[in-house]
Order: sequence, then C-alpha cells, then structure tokens
Amino acid sequence: MSDECAAPRSLGDGWWRGGVIYQIYPRSFADSNGDGVGDLPGITARMDYIAALGVEGIWISPFFKSPMKDFGYDVADYRAVDPLFGRNEDFDELLSAARAHGLKVIIDLVLSHTSDQHSWFHDESKKDWYVWADPKNGAPPNNWVSLFGGSAWTYDERYRQYYLHNFLREQPDLNFHNPAVQQEMLDIARHWLERGVDGFRLDVVNFYFHDQALRDNPPRPAQMGKATQFEGDTPYSRQAHIYDKSQPENLEFIERFRALLDEYNAFCVGELGDDNPNERAREYTSGDQRLHTIYNPHLCGGTHKKLTAQTIRAPFEAFENTAPDSWPSWSFSNHDVVRAASRWCPQGDGFGHDPRLSQMLIALLGCLRGTAFLYQGEELGLPEARIPHEALQDPWAKETWPEWQGRDGCRTPMPWNSDMPDNTWLPVPAAHEALTVSAQENDAHSTLNFTRDFLARRSAHPALRHGEIEFIDTDDDMVLAFRRIDKDEILLCVFNLSGEEKKFEAQTLPAYGFEITDAR
Ligand code: BGC
Ligand code: MG
Repeated sequence: MSDECAAPRSLGDGWWRGGVIYQIYPRSFADSNGDGVGDLPGITARMDYIAALGVEGIWISPFFKSPMKDFGYDVADYRAVDPLFGRNEDFDELLSAARAHGLKVIIDLVLSHTSDQHSWFHDESKKDWYVWADPKNGAPPNNWVSLFGGSAWTYDERYRQYYLHNFLREQPDLNFHNPAVQQEMLDIARHWLERGVDGFRLDVVNFYFHDQALRDNPPRPAQMGKATQFEGDTPYSRQAHIYDKSQPENLEFIERFRALLDEYNAFCVGELGDDNPNERAREYTSGDQRLHTIYNPHLCGGTHKKLTAQTIRAPFEAFENTAPDSWPSWSFSNHDVVRAASRWCPQGDGFGHDPRLSQMLIALLGCLRGTAFLYQGEELGLPEARIPHEALQDPWAKETWPEWQGRDGCRTPMPWNSDMPDNTWLPVPAAHEALTVSAQENDAHSTLNFTRDFLARRSAHPALRHGEIEFIDTDDDMVLAFRRIDKDEILLCVFNLSGEEKKFEAQTLPAYGFEITDAR
C-alpha cells in the first residue's frame, strides 16, 4: 500500500470523529427516586459505569418538559427539564459529573414540531408559528400522511382549519418559513450551549420545512426500492416524499445553525429519514458549513433481517460513493428500532439472542469507518423484549399491533441487578434477568466485559478511528472482510457473520468469531 493511497482524506478532527457515543434513553436508564421512570440524577449516579465502557460521550434522548405523548419527543418547554426527569439543576450536576469523567454530552433537540401543549400552540398571536391550511372540499388540504399512520392533518375548530403534523396529532409541526420560528430555535440551541452542552442530536432534521404550495406527494416509484428505518409497507412508505420534507430552504437554516455551533466549537449529528438518504446526507454534511455528520439509517432498519456481508457493505459503499467527503455515523440499535442482537439473530423469531453474535456486533460497529452510536443495553447484548399487549406504551404500537409491537421492545429499563422494582414504566422482561449489569460484571466472558475490553483496545488503534476503509471480496456472503488504513497502521478486520465455523484465507473463524490483525 503506497503512502499516497493510504493518506486519509482531509476531514479535520474532533472528539466525535471516529469516537463512540453512548445513547441514553432517560426514561429507561436509571431511576433515582423509585417512581418507575429513569431520571437525570439516575444518569449522574451511573457516570462511573458509562465512563468505564470506554465511550467518548453520551447522547441523551429528550428530557424537556413534555406531556410524554411521544415520550419526550413532544416538547412543551425547550428550556425546562420535565419534573419526571428532575430539576434544571440536576442537568447541571449531570454535566459536571460527565466533565469529571472526561465525557462529552450531546442533547436531543426536537425542532421540527412541539407538543400540542406548548404555550405557542395556544397563543393566537403565534398562529403562524405552525402550519395551518383550509379544508379542501371538506377534506384535508392534501394527501400528506403522518409517519405514525393516518392523515398528516388534523382539523381544529378554533380556526376551522387543519394543522400539519408529520407524527402524532399531539405533535403539531412548526412553520420554519416564519423567521421568528427559526430565530427562536437558534435561541434555544444557544441557551443549551451556554449551559455547557457539547452539541446536539437533531431529531428528524430534514422535516423542518414543507412545500408552501402544499402540493400532493406522488406515489413512490417502484425503482426507488423499499424504504428504510421506520418505513415498512404503510401509506407513508407508498409516497415519494417530495413536498412534505427535505425542502431546499432547510439548508440555509442548517447553515445558520452551524454558524452558531462553531461559536462554541460544538458538534451536531442529524437524524434524517428520506427516500434518498445518501443524497441527503451529502447535501446536509458536505463542506464545513452544514452538519458534522448524519446518523445513517441503513443498518438500523427493520428491512435487513438477515445479516450478510452485503447488508453492511452495500449501504456503506453506496454512502461512500454518493457522499465521499462526508463523515458517516453508524448505529445498529436505538430507541426506535428492534434491537440488532435480535433483529440479526437467526433464532428466536425476532426476540432471540446469542452472546457470540452480540459481541461480534459490538466489534463490527467499532471497526466500521465513522462515528459509532451504541444504544444503552447493547453492551449487555440485550435481546428485544416481548411486550404483553396490556403493557404497551408506544402510541405508534397502538396503530400497528399485532403486526408490530412498536418501539417498546427496545425501550425496557436497563436491568442493573436481579432486584429491579416492579413498578417500572415498561416491564423488565424475564429474558433480561440473566443479563443484568451485576451478573455480567462478575462474568469474565460477558458481553459487558467484552465491550469494555474491546473499546479500550479500539482506542489504541488510530486506523479504527480515522483510517480509510477498503472492503475485500470474500467468496462467502457470511464472511465480511475489510482493511482499515491509516498512515502508520493497516488492520485487516474479518467477521464471521454466521453461527458456523468459517475460513478466510489462512484464518479459521469460529461461529460469530472475528479477527483484527496487523496487515502491514
Ligand atoms: C425519534 C422518534 C420520534 C420521532 C418524532 C424520531 O425520529 O427518534 O422517537 O418519535 O422522531 O419526534
Ligand atoms: Mg425517577
């Protein structure tokens, strides 16, 4: 390998680049006051645990004041901590604890919509902060649909008009065409930067603007293939989303947002759900005036039930070809999708797990080029939880049951020990009882100890953090191989994605085994 090929693309640096960020879903992380719901002091109390994982930072899902119709993704006051999660000062304590442990903190900003309980939605002088439209022949203004099911429009007697919501009717969409809305959102971000956060995860970052002419979306053309992440075969996935999101005006707002981040040297990852996610990622992250990175949906979706080399390689190469100058972010699991430990487990019908597979997935996530997002419980190899119908909480589940149990199966409380209280907001499933943190701490071969060791080893390899990636053709689709190439180091990474022994060149890999070797 000549030096010329091995030279890394010039992408600058930053703690987040090639780092590992641990996602905390606060309702289910750690409950300090025994009310059955996790909270900010709970997170602070577990900072040793988080730091010992060897991650660079944490992303905390929303903890702002909210009626919790979408469990915090419906914000009623962007500057206040919801009492369920603690007091405003609890956040400051969390930040200083994170600092003391050398951890960065990014928070989740849900700017596209508010809760219908936000005072703005009830203030007539702010009517234009939301998207209102007259009925069309007694029906909704156009064919836009909510991602959670049904029309994206709800009729409101107040103005005898419909308001837009891409998600629940309790999540009215903000009107970003109004400059006052943009300014307020920038002020909110500044507020948290002043409080000391290191950056943001921007929820549904391409949903901020809508087509002001309210044109109907056309049907999704067959050649577009299947939609990813959220979108199974639903009315939402049958449309091409040309007019309800990803409007060109958004890029100008993103540039204003980035200018603000740069004042604080802060970082931002966007969540993007689009028909052409790579194209959008290129648009949203190219150059150094837009987002730092986009949280790539391809390996998180429900559509890849079988894990093969192509499952990883195809979206990776498509991204690299479409957006060669963008820095990718990858995750296998989050609070919206079936846990990868089960999704990619051939046994157990979507609820199974195999610690060998779970550990290999941690290694794989840590070896791919990009920033890695690890979701709480992934370090324990938790399988997706089966949720009895009467325990369901996710509003989306109520639309899709029994076909899909919604998102509760990945949101159950972290099983810290065998003595979990029985008032938790979602039940701790029996399948997690043997996988508690305390049990795994005492087991040298546990997924938790594996994760700690692996992330510690990873940080010693610049090639895994910054290196280029070069896939290698293998003649077996259950063997994934690539090189990570840095100026001082070349590593060969080989993964056996199957439950049977495999061979790659001279190496023999046990079921779900992997090897990372010096290849200079
Ligand atoms: C969040 C979801 C949420 C939705 C609406 C997302 O993509 O991750 O949990 O329901 O945005 O805010
Ligand atoms: Mg609590």
